[in-house]
Amino acid sequence: MNPSDLVEVEQLWSQVDGYIQDKLIGSDPALEAALEESDRAGLPQIAVSAPQGRLLAILAKAINAKRILEIGTLGGYSTIWLARSLPLDGRLVSLEVDPRHGEVASANVARAGLEDRVEIRVGPAIKSLPDVSAEVTATGERFDLVFIDADKPSTSAYFERVLGLTRPGGLIIVDNSVRHGRLVDDSGSDANVVGMRDFHDLLATTPGVSATTIQTVGSKGYDGFTIVHVGR
Ligand code: SAH
Ligand code: DHB
Ligand code: MG
Repeated sequence: MNPSDLVEVEQLWSQVDGYIQDKLIGSDPALEAALEESDRAGLPQIAVSAPQGRLLAILAKAINAKRILEIGTLGGYSTIWLARSLPLDGRLVSLEVDPRHGEVASANVARAGLEDRVEIRVGPAIKSLPDVSAEVTATGERFDLVFIDADKPSTSAYFERVLGLTRPGGLIIVDNSVRHGRLVDDSGSDANVVGMRDFHDLLATTPGVSATTIQTVGSKGYDGFTIVHVGR
């Protein structure tokens, strides 16, 4: 496809996302404010799209999620989508390395009225996970849903650590696993792609899970996500 055709088709994907948002999601002041405040603070515009946020919320509700772990908070946009699908006594822990992102996200989560259900922990996720793990061991309460959406090269490391923290029947969802189709590029030149290919290798040899990767197009271009069902 030549570049101008690609621009056109990407515009079409964005228009269709706009249509879906207008018809099925509508105006949502807290979510819109979360994106506006994230922009104002100079955060990158890489939050999940509104239709993707709705999908996360539907999946969380479908499995009756009460405990959610997120890795990669940014401005808290996906956090808000996920936390809203929790019951009042539900809980979401989100791990974020950048203190500025954490601050913006905290304000956005508070504006959405979700601060009682959401805890943002600032630090490298790999360093926060041992505490998270110890808490699961102490309480016996595993996560129903884990959303991995941070530094892509660490995806397998995160997956290995959260698998045992996820209840049977729970879901682990990984964002950005197709990367404009570069998932099939075996040259090793892009660390993000290597990360997602390693993750697929790991999934292929992990017993007791059922996984698929769904390719997506939309306002964020061509990408995809991986859903892992932890076996019962
Ligand atoms: N889930 C968000 C988008 C996350 S973007 C949404 O859809 O709204 C990825 C985030 O991961 C960024 O905020 C980045 O700072 C964070 N991140 C990158 N490396 C990390 C690490 N090692 N530990 C925790 N968070 C990390
Ligand atoms: C990008 C998109 C994401 O959803 C993400 O988590 C990180 C990066 C990107 O488009 O660069
Ligand atoms: Mg992402």
